[in-house]
Amino acid sequence: MNQYLKLPGVPHLAHRAMLATLVLSLGTLASALWPAQAAASQALVQRYACVGCHQANAQVVGPSWKGIAQKYAGSDTTAEQLAASIKAGGTGKWGPMPMPAQAQVPDADAKSIAQWLLDGAH
Ligand code: HEC
Repeated sequence: MNQYLKLPGVPHLAHRAMLATLVLSLGTLASALWPAQAAASQALVQRYACVGCHQANAQVVGPSWKGIAQKYAGSDTTAEQLAASIKAGGTGKWGPMPMPAQAQVPDADAKSIAQWLLDGAH
């Protein structure tokens, strides 16, 4: 196959094959990395017991991850602001039920969760 592609007269085929290989490997890389990042954030919200009050698609005690994503994705809220809001807790933004402060969550983890929410909580 490679030998055939390298024959003089068909160099464009070799280029195309190289480009296709490159595009394929970039695609594979992206799809390998992206779920890993989402899985890491899902592991964090389990570890910090956020899931006791937040579920993927349904409002329980707190709003759903999807609901939070819909409210803030594409807004000018930054990951830093949302992370600060996670750590401070709060009340009145979604309803009367308060969210207790989550000061035990390290800044870096709060920011990963916030970014995952801003990216759509997939
Ligand atoms: C005891 C229940 C409870 C726990 C535990 C909890 N939350 Fe919440 N969360 C809430 C409630 C209730 C609200 C809505 C507060 C409001 O209306 O302002 C909320 C709101 C939020 C919001 C939206 C904040 C905003 O500014 O709009 C985010 C993001 C969030 N929670 C993330 C988390 C994360 C991450 C954790 C774990 C580290 C967590 N929550 C743990 C109950 C909880």
